[in-house]
Amino acid sequence: MAEIRGEVKQQYVASLFSRIADRYDLMNDLMTLGLHRNWKARTVRLAAQGLSGKGLDVAGGTGDLGIALARRAGIEHAVVLDLLPGMIAKARSKAGAAGLPENVTCLLGDALDLPFADDTFACCTAGFSLRNMPGPGGVQIALAEMVRVVRPGGRVAVLELTPMAKGGLSGILRWYFHHVVPLIGSVVAGDRAAYTYLPQSVDQFVEAVALAGMLEDAGLALVGYKIMGFGAVAVHWGNKP
Ligand SMILES: C[S@@+](CC[C@H](N)C(=O)[O-])C[C@H]1O[C@@H](n2cnc3c(N)ncnc32)[C@H](O)[C@@H]1O
Repeated sequence: MAEIRGEVKQQYVASLFSRIADRYDLMNDLMTLGLHRNWKARTVRLAAQGLSGKGLDVAGGTGDLGIALARRAGIEHAVVLDLLPGMIAKARSKAGAAGLPENVTCLLGDALDLPFADDTFACCTAGFSLRNMPGPGGVQIALAEMVRVVRPGGRVAVLELTPMAKGGLSGILRWYFHHVVPLIGSVVAGDRAAYTYLPQSVDQFVEAVALAGMLEDAGLALVGYKIMGFGAVAVHWGNKP
């Protein structure tokens, strides 16, 4: 796939996630054998540990990270924001089923133009979403927005698939992502194209060390990252000074 950018990418991504919203959670469980739940738990821990106040999950899809934020002792309320009504409807219904309808607000909105005042949140997360921002500059704009709405002393955490370094299991994992995942997507979600885009978008994304540099450029301090998932996933974090 040639790299798609800008407005075309935004429309492509919106159409793709609208089509798969109903099967999105099942696909995540199947593709990762449930491991995405551990990665999300770790991301929320890194974002919220020791903080109190409100939490935000940007491009939050069906709400996993937002609901996990709302379960943290110090987080009085969580907001899940996503571009798509189909995703927000799922997030709202999952927050209700989790017994947290009052603790999680699910909102339509654009990660590139967050509808919140500066310094509103104690912490902000984004999971598997920065990769889908339109270029050029979409990732930087989304990060700048996340940093803007977090209060000084607050924290940002980003969970993302990451291009794999050569060696180790990377050959097997690349084969899995490029051949098995599209097949599962075609059978389970009825959408081979959506799950062909996934590995291609990872190949076109920045490596974990470069993403850490982007968090620093966005104004975060004490930036760190941890590679997980046999080298296929990274969680990044940083503090707003
Ligand atoms: C791969 S899903 C990730 C969902 C969720 N964060 C998770 O970890 O399961 C990517 C999400 O980003 C959303 N998205 C893409 N571009 C967006 C934008 N500009 N603003 C808000 N949400 C966006 C999509 O609608 C989709 O729900």
